[in-house]
Amino acid sequence: MGRVDTLLAAMTPQEKIGQLNMAAGSAVVTGPGERGAVEEGIRGGRIGSLLNVWGAEEVRRLQRLALEDSRLAIPLLFTLDVIHGFRTIFPVPLAEACLFDPDAWERTARAAAIEAGQQGVALTFAPMLDVARDPRWGRIVEGPGEDPWVAAQFAAAKTRGFQGNELRDGATLAATAKHLCGYGAVTAGREYASVDVSERTLHEVYLPPFAAAAASGVAAMMPALIDIDGVPMTANARLLNDWLRVRLGFEGVLISDFNAVTELIAHGVAADDTEAAALALTSGVDIDMASEAYLRGLPSALARGLVSERQIEAAVRRVLTLKERLGLFDDPYRGIGQQRQAMPRALAREVARRAIVLLTHRADVLPLSPDARHIALIGPLADASAEMLGPWAAAGRAEDAVSVLQGLKAAMPGCHIDSAAGVGLDGEDAHGVAAAIERCRAAELVILCVGESHRMSGEAASRGDLGLPAAQGALAEAALALGKPVVVLLFSGRPLIVPWLLERADAVLACWFLGTEAGNAIADVLTGGFNPTGKLPISWPSHSGQIPIFYAQRPSGRPAKRGERFSSSYLDIPVAPQFPFGHGLSYSRFALEDLQCAPRRVRAEDTIEVSVRVRNDGPVRGEASVLLFVRDVVASVARPVLELKGVRRTALAPGGHSRLRWSVPVASLAFPGLDLEPVLEPGEFQIHVGHSADPTGLLRESIELIP
Ligand code: BGC
Repeated sequence: MGRVDTLLAAMTPQEKIGQLNMAAGSAVVTGPGERGAVEEGIRGGRIGSLLNVWGAEEVRRLQRLALEDSRLAIPLLFTLDVIHGFRTIFPVPLAEACLFDPDAWERTARAAAIEAGQQGVALTFAPMLDVARDPRWGRIVEGPGEDPWVAAQFAAAKTRGFQGNELRDGATLAATAKHLCGYGAVTAGREYASVDVSERTLHEVYLPPFAAAAASGVAAMMPALIDIDGVPMTANARLLNDWLRVRLGFEGVLISDFNAVTELIAHGVAADDTEAAALALTSGVDIDMASEAYLRGLPSALARGLVSERQIEAAVRRVLTLKERLGLFDDPYRGIGQQRQAMPRALAREVARRAIVLLTHRADVLPLSPDARHIALIGPLADASAEMLGPWAAAGRAEDAVSVLQGLKAAMPGCHIDSAAGVGLDGEDAHGVAAAIERCRAAELVILCVGESHRMSGEAASRGDLGLPAAQGALAEAALALGKPVVVLLFSGRPLIVPWLLERADAVLACWFLGTEAGNAIADVLTGGFNPTGKLPISWPSHSGQIPIFYAQRPSGRPAKRGERFSSSYLDIPVAPQFPFGHGLSYSRFALEDLQCAPRRVRAEDTIEVSVRVRNDGPVRGEASVLLFVRDVVASVARPVLELKGVRRTALAPGGHSRLRWSVPVASLAFPGLDLEPVLEPGEFQIHVGHSADPTGLLRESIELIP
């Protein structure tokens, strides 16, 4: 008998249920009463895992309680949201997605796992894989954007990065793919609202990233807090059991979201904790995070026959197997005290500068002239190191983070940089505007640092108005009225709808929340030490009436035609986004030519070789990223006008050129057919290649799939 079987045979029903209970560690640090409750719970075998606890000392203390004072000495599992870094904070996931680079995504997860592992954390609630097409939803910041192909690459890269080759190695974290699924489609972008998506959209858009995570061996998954078509994901047996466990063969652990099991009552599908616990467990949820509904409800559910002992045991087996895979039985203090890596700041800086997207650039205002002697750096985000860390910064510290002012001063020691906030991040108080503008008068150039505070995106941060918050608009107007060159650094966890600012500023850079090295990374780009390469993983709306907005639209019978009444458009606003998916300028200019596809006639088992020539027509060395899309022209189900299938990069000197190549397996052109089973239908497929999803900038060729 293996260790897990031996333990299972020795466990009482209460001890089994205890392994399924994850306690919130905030209780460990707040109030003596609650702290005592957690300790009692550990001693009594009522807690199998803890969230929000880290630090060598605290983890050791609590682990010792489990090992020395509980009957079966089963080690605890310590968990935390290590979303984009632990102590060293990397760019928020939406910003990291701008790199379109799985290797970088993997490296940042690896670095975060090493740091967190040293502090006793063994499992992270990441990667977040919610495809999001509605920037009103604050959690768009936590995921990889609008595209399912990008999200699937992100899923695989993050899983590899967090988990490494061997989970037993203390420098890894078990990863949790979340939030299964459709959370990004909350009605009207409102947090925690109901989701109503078609079965087809689930299979085409929302499920593929989770399938990719499962295929990469992700250790855990988390059902979303929402309901889909009236069935809360925490009780969605069809998706959790039938799709994930049976169809995909996922053998990992399912962890509920925070308090989600007892919230089944508020959702209106359970009368009490007994029913809620029974529903969640029988739908496939192994661990109850923080609601204690399993503790309260499973004993009565068992007595009433709503769950069976076998079902409880199956869940406990998965939890114990995860602990075993993590090596916790052999080394309950795994990771703690491992040789420290220095803070991976070089990686943080590299990824942060690559995440910056040059949205607009006129009159060659950038890079800043090395002869600049006086710059005004104004706005509430000019010297705001804490804000740089973003909405989910784990053990990140403001004192480690570099503000724009600090970064620019270090990069331009010969330049006088005059800085003032002018206004707050929020609120209407504009009385500081005049003083900030005074500072600009003698400057050669104004850098305006505006946008959201880190609290305005993330969980429970839906916004209906995606403009600049309050008085920041007044500061921006006053800066633009000076008649001097104005460079805008736009900080946010989502696209902001500021067409007036984008039109009038000389350059605008999307700076998201770039993490610990934000200021240095921004200075690298402003001074030309780094030529921007970031590309948008989302369509950027010009008007909130366009939301939800994404490039992979289905063709309309009456496609949008400007000025034509009976076409798929608006009377009062444009259909095209402010910036298309993939948009991102460089200080270089790249031209694409000579798209080649071979062979022209293919069969299902073939591979299509695609290539295109890229030329750098600009004055400086730079890196071009090129996107490959396909379109299935005629199919039994209308296919999107474009679907991303690959991205390639090349660095080119001025005047330099090279050929980018893709091998596209014909099998990857399959789609969910009329019965939602994958099909590959003969006929014409278009191959489109371009810098972005802007249809006017794409090169196109066709191939034919023959039966
Ligand atoms: C969030 C999850 C997170 C969990 C634990 C919840 O509120 O929805 O994404 O992992 O809290 O912190």
